[in-house]
Amino acid sequence: MRLSDDFISEVKYRNDLGELAASYMQLKRRGRNLVGLCPFHGEKTPSFNIYTENGSFYCFGCGAGGDVISFVMKIENLDYLEAVKFLAQRAGMSMPEDDYDDSMSRLRTRIYEANREAARFYYKKLGEREGAQGLAYLRGRGLADSTIRHFGLGFAPESRFALGDYLLGKGFTESELIAANLVFKSRSGRGVVDRFYNRVMFPIIDVRGNVIAFGGRIMTDQKPKYLNTSDTIVFNKSLNLFSLNNAKNSKSRAYILCEGYMDVIALNQAGFTEAVATLGTALTFDQATLLKRYCDEVIVCYDADEAGQKATARAIDILRRAGIVVRVLRIPDGKDPDEFIRRHGDKGHAAFKNLLESSGNDVDYRMQQLKSGFDMNSPQSKLGYLNEGVKLLAELDNPMERDIYASKLSDETDVAKPSIMEQVNRLVKRKSYNRSKDEFKQIQKNLSARDDRINPQHAANLRAATAEENLIAFLVNNTDKLGYIESKLKPEDFITDFNRKLYVYFCERIKNQKEPMTTVSADFTADEASQVYRIVTSYSNIRSTPQALDEYIGVILDEGTKMSESDIANASTGSLAEYLRKLAEQKK
Ligand code: CTP
Ligand code: MN
Repeated sequence: MRLSDDFISEVKYRNDLGELAASYMQLKRRGRNLVGLCPFHGEKTPSFNIYTENGSFYCFGCGAGGDVISFVMKIENLDYLEAVKFLAQRAGMSMPEDDYDDSMSRLRTRIYEANREAARFYYKKLGEREGAQGLAYLRGRGLADSTIRHFGLGFAPESRFALGDYLLGKGFTESELIAANLVFKSRSGRGVVDRFYNRVMFPIIDVRGNVIAFGGRIMTDQKPKYLNTSDTIVFNKSLNLFSLNNAKNSKSRAYILCEGYMDVIALNQAGFTEAVATLGTALTFDQATLLKRYCDEVIVCYDADEAGQKATARAIDILRRAGIVVRVLRIPDGKDPDEFIRRHGDKGHAAFKNLLESSGNDVDYRMQQLKSGFDMNSPQSKLGYLNEGVKLLAELDNPMERDIYASKLSDETDVAKPSIMEQVNRLVKRKSYNRSKDEFKQIQKNLSARDDRINPQHAANLRAATAEENLIAFLVNNTDKLGYIESKLKPEDFITDFNRKLYVYFCERIKNQKEPMTTVSADFTADEASQVYRIVTSYSNIRSTPQALDEYIGVILDEGTKMSESDIANASTGSLAEYLRKLAEQKK
């Protein structure tokens, strides 16, 4: 069963896209529209547009488009029904219960429930004899019982059937538990076996409070040290962060980014609830974008080893691109934050606070790293440092920042600041020129058909496909012309399959007295919906007179009959007959 059009319209009506989007990003008014930096890809010049009169958006940079529901799907990483539910809740509307039974959404709900039960089970085990070893391990790592409870840490027993049997007994099906990645199908034939056994367990909880996955640590030096839930339909490890649910409540706008679960937990115990960690992978741009929603500044606090420092350089770059202010905290003596805090015992908080306060910004950090690779006593080597330093400064967007670090570079190398600035400015100019050229190229590429994945016939049939798109935009914006258009143009007349599909779809909706666009985000995939919104929002840029309409129709019919010689040679008899039929019809 699906949600009624009326309900969807009401949800959309009560959730203004511009207002909602403004809570995720900065928007500027431009005429009737709003523009901003696209939250779905990295860019420096805004190509993300919100069309306020019809509540839709389109990004000319990455081609993402849709309505307020698509926006929420993308930015909150939800499926269609969840996004509708999210918006309904936001507007204080209740969901029509009977309609809410899409099987995918139901499975997600079941996985959340299974995960929650699993977390309870693991936690309970810690208090039982079976879990004594786990509890001792966690206490041995300096965790207070209140911390263990707060994070819901637990223990997966040694038996390979403990959790599976328990959850099956609670009414979950094998396929639900497999989909949650809590169990595997057993090879021996006895139903399913637990994914986690004989490990201390760390539940991973999203910002809405759902248990979405687990990390499990072995209590010895065996490998793998940590085992994590694989990606499931509720969990994508590169889209989530450990303890973001806690950080979100910390009210701090400067987050501490660590490598490990234990680092975050130790920091929380020492009073730094604004700590988060990635989930066993390097930081992704999606995670940086997610962070940007909750904080303005990130203090990178990775392990002091070489791998940690490499990861730091990468994280700095990604965070900066997401528009986050970055600082880097160095932990002395090759420790990670967890070890550092534990070593300072009662004074852990004060000691770490000290480090936080002395943490330099990312530019300081990078200059220091750079400098350590050069011998400042050799003129040749010094020149090398200067060249690299200039490149680094040219990457900074803020002119004041460039100025400050140019002074520093000048002090360090005894080269006059003006000549350093001259070099920097030259590079900045070139970079900004290249960047706008690149972004412009990307926009052109998206506007042209060169890599139109949704409509692969677009590129080879540019004239026809453009006319088809204009016609569809015209139809959706002038539904009263349906009769006229249908009398001239049959679906078979369309050259490209995707546009034909759209034509049939909109004709059908309009005929049934339905607003054409209301359920586009439900009826098409996200990429297809983006394309539909691109086509329909282009209406403001195309001619919309009755003459223009006839022209669009004319071009489509004309292109259909104008099959090239090679097409005729290659054509099957069926399409050849069709071609001859069209020719004959035109003669009439
Ligand atoms: N990790 C992982 N799988 C591994 C090792 C590490 O997923 N085999 C992830 C975990 O999220 C871990 C993080 O990478 O928390 C950092 O790894 P590491 O520095 O090795 O672990 P610590 O957090 O220091 O772990 P511990 O203090 O428990 O030894
Ligand atoms: Mn550690």
